[in-house]
Amino acid sequence: MKNSLKNEIWKELSEHKNKIEIRSMRDMFAAESERFEKYSIFFEDLLLDYSKNLINDKTLGLLINLAKHSDLKENIEAMFTGEKINFTEKRAVLHTALRNLSGNSVSFEGKDVMPDIKIELDKAMEFADSLRNGIHKGFTGKAITDVVNIGIGGSHLGPEMVCTALAPYTGDVKVHFVSNVDPTDINDKLKSLNPETTLFLIASKTFTTQETMANAEKSRQWFLSYSDNDEAALAKHFAALSTNIEACIKFGIANDRIFGFWDWVGGRYSLWSVIGLSIAVSIGSDNFLKMLDGANKMDEHFRHTPFEQNIPVILALLGIWYANFWQASTYAIIPYDQNLLKFTEFLQQLDMESNGKRITKNGSIVDYTTGPVIWGTIGTNSQHSFFQLIHQGTQLIPADFIAGTDCRSGDKSQHDILMSNFFAQTEALMKGKTEDEVRDELEAAGMNNQDIESLLPHKIFPGNKPTNTILYQSLTPETLGMLIAMYEHKVFVQGIIWELNSFDQWGVELGKQLAKGILEDFAKSGEITGHDSSTNALINYYKSSKS
Ligand code: F6P
Repeated sequence: MKNSLKNEIWKELSEHKNKIEIRSMRDMFAAESERFEKYSIFFEDLLLDYSKNLINDKTLGLLINLAKHSDLKENIEAMFTGEKINFTEKRAVLHTALRNLSGNSVSFEGKDVMPDIKIELDKAMEFADSLRNGIHKGFTGKAITDVVNIGIGGSHLGPEMVCTALAPYTGDVKVHFVSNVDPTDINDKLKSLNPETTLFLIASKTFTTQETMANAEKSRQWFLSYSDNDEAALAKHFAALSTNIEACIKFGIANDRIFGFWDWVGGRYSLWSVIGLSIAVSIGSDNFLKMLDGANKMDEHFRHTPFEQNIPVILALLGIWYANFWQASTYAIIPYDQNLLKFTEFLQQLDMESNGKRITKNGSIVDYTTGPVIWGTIGTNSQHSFFQLIHQGTQLIPADFIAGTDCRSGDKSQHDILMSNFFAQTEALMKGKTEDEVRDELEAAGMNNQDIESLLPHKIFPGNKPTNTILYQSLTPETLGMLIAMYEHKVFVQGIIWELNSFDQWGVELGKQLAKGILEDFAKSGEITGHDSSTNALINYYKSSKS
């Protein structure tokens, strides 16, 4: 880090960690009755309780100072005002403009981007609604019953996650997702579909991604073989969501079925653009707009709230505290909401593709840890798989616990079971169970002394495991929009403090490049010798053993 004041704060944080680690959170709670009031933030429908963290006022003060001396405020403004902060690709980062429903202009290179955004948004919303209400007909005059989004990475994970999260808002048109280049994915989906009533959305920012193009081509052939190669019919069943208009036209997509966006929308931030068309088909344009509105509320909160009360900033700083000062190399996200089944998977791309980097803005290699491994899945399922390790393993794994207070299914008593587990886990992780408590428990159960002594160490929980609790009332489109934007901004803040460019993804290129050459190797006769001995042997084995 170049900034010497920042280095100083970093050092102070290291020293402070050594002091604070000898105190348990149990003791901190016992000493401070106001801990929840002090370390929680209410915003709109959201409540963030971050009191169950290994922190005190000094920790927070130092972390906030770290943010200030990282020029966070200036960097936030640079993003919102269209500066080319993605400097390796010479691009602005303006996904926040996509959800700016305020009527205020957003200027990029001297031009207000809002009128163009509105044109594409209106066009996409109108199309989504025409599919939902049966106005758009297929080539035999039947209404569309099934929409298939073909895309990968940001052109898939966001839309699929949102459609899963907002399943209670789903209309009659079924939305499916195909992503993997493993042909099983598309074949399985096509099996149950009728070409006369199916519409494909080819979602790809670049319209060159190998996996998406292979699946798009397969669906095209599937459709044409049914419609006697009728290209005019194809136009009624394919739409494209892309920045590469020329490639969409070449593929055979009708002009008015191409929905465009701009290079300043990063793939993992694109669900707010026309890439979200599948979402609008699923939940309707009015709900899609509510989701944008929720995200916009979080944008405003992030942009204008002092760091001490700023949810994304606090989350980011806590993440830095554990990654850099407690050597926590992973971070778990555990939603206790079945509808958030795909949420962690979505956050994996958002976080790890953004901050999984080791080169700073000035081109040097970092000498500190950057983005953690993001993982997890829904509770209560996870309690019966990996929670053992979080409770009693050797690694410190900070975690976000996310849940809704309302019971959407109507089964309130079962929702109470879910929520009792939700609260119990963060309490258990914080408090643990001491040797004395275990001994008392075993004695009360009538166990003899010898058995108690041998079982005792296994039943002790060290506790002191940090968690954030994020509660919302109900997972509405607006609340989901807020939640997603909250994590986007958390990732942004961490990228600024780690001095990374969070908006490029060069690390995915090498594998793509090599795969192209290997695909060519498959077509060659004779031994393949152009790689290392392991890769050569594996390719040759594959070629000789595939049926
Ligand atoms: O592989 C990385 C990546 O470029 C992601 O960042 C992106 O979301 C995904 O591929 C898909 O890209 P596209 O939308 O251009 O097909």
